[in-house]
Amino acid sequence: MSERIYINDVGPRDGLQNQAQILSPQQRLQLIHSLTQAGLDGIEVGAFVSPKAVPAMAGLDEICSALPHSNCHYSVLIPNMKGFELAHQHKVGLASLVIAASNTMNERNIRMDNSKALSMIKDVIAASKNTNVEVQVYLATAWECPFEGVISQEQVINMAARLLEMGASRLVIADTIGAGNPKTVSTLMNVLVKQFGASTFACHFHDTRAMGLANVYAALEAGIRRFDASIAGLGGCPFAPGASGNVATEDVVMMCEQIGFDTCVNMKALLEASDLAVELTKTARGGNAKTWLVKQMTA
Ligand code: COA
Ligand code: ZN
Repeated sequence: MSERIYINDVGPRDGLQNQAQILSPQQRLQLIHSLTQAGLDGIEVGAFVSPKAVPAMAGLDEICSALPHSNCHYSVLIPNMKGFELAHQHKVGLASLVIAASNTMNERNIRMDNSKALSMIKDVIAASKNTNVEVQVYLATAWECPFEGVISQEQVINMAARLLEMGASRLVIADTIGAGNPKTVSTLMNVLVKQFGASTFACHFHDTRAMGLANVYAALEAGIRRFDASIAGLGGCPFAPGASGNVATEDVVMMCEQIGFDTCVNMKALLEASDLAVELTKTARGGNAKTWLVKQMTA
């Protein structure tokens, strides 16, 4: 039996948060429904953030109350305690807090410096322990910050240690602006895996410099088995200049399957979701391998 890779599609959140054209909750539900047909392990369905800060994420309450019944693990991004309370109220099983490795990025993104953000995270995780909401943490700009430049490995390790001590169920190590390369990904992920164990982590890569898939491979080699990816390569952060699309889900699934892992994803259904993402946003490019993958389906 092939070893399993778990893929979480962040298209309905990371993919849509920075689009010029704002999709209605109904359109976002249509995309989520299409993604559930593909058998993905998880879908990040949106963010409980301030609608003033990110207008494209407004209406997530409506989406949460109409999610299709599926084995898929639904999650939401949250920036603070209010986001956690909304996730709890809407019975979301997994909430992903976000903290960047750098002060400036935290100030721009969630309007807190590192120490305030860490203390907020401690409170949210403590509150979650009396609920059915699991809380994991995105450690963003883990390789490079758009304002402060290269992030030291020690900084990431120290923050990871503190977040795990607080009780985070998992850490998603995120290359928010796509600045990592296979060597730096390999170095950091090997150190983290050695210190805290591979199952503690997932990885989240953006394809800004066309190294997204190579970075997924480097993380796989370091033992990581959980990845975020975004349907049709949508993605980008409104508060991180230069962040472009995430690594495309169809490309990640294809690579994992070709090198002998099992994603349990139905490629035909995934390509239909990719078509829908392109149709709804008009900007998604589709994965790099999409033309080839479509040919395989019709051969
Ligand atoms: N969900 C919805 N609304 C929220 C909220 C949340 N999680 N947190 C705060 N708000 C609302 C407050 O109720 C308040 O509303 P009002 O103006 O109608 O009274 C308003 O937002 C401002 O609240 P405040 O606590 O002063 O927040 P802020 O202005 O300091 O902004 C954040 C902080 C975190 C809410 C905001 O920066 C944010 O939502 N950032 C999201 C970042 C993001 O999504 N980045 C991309 C993904 S990494
Ligand atoms: Zn991202």
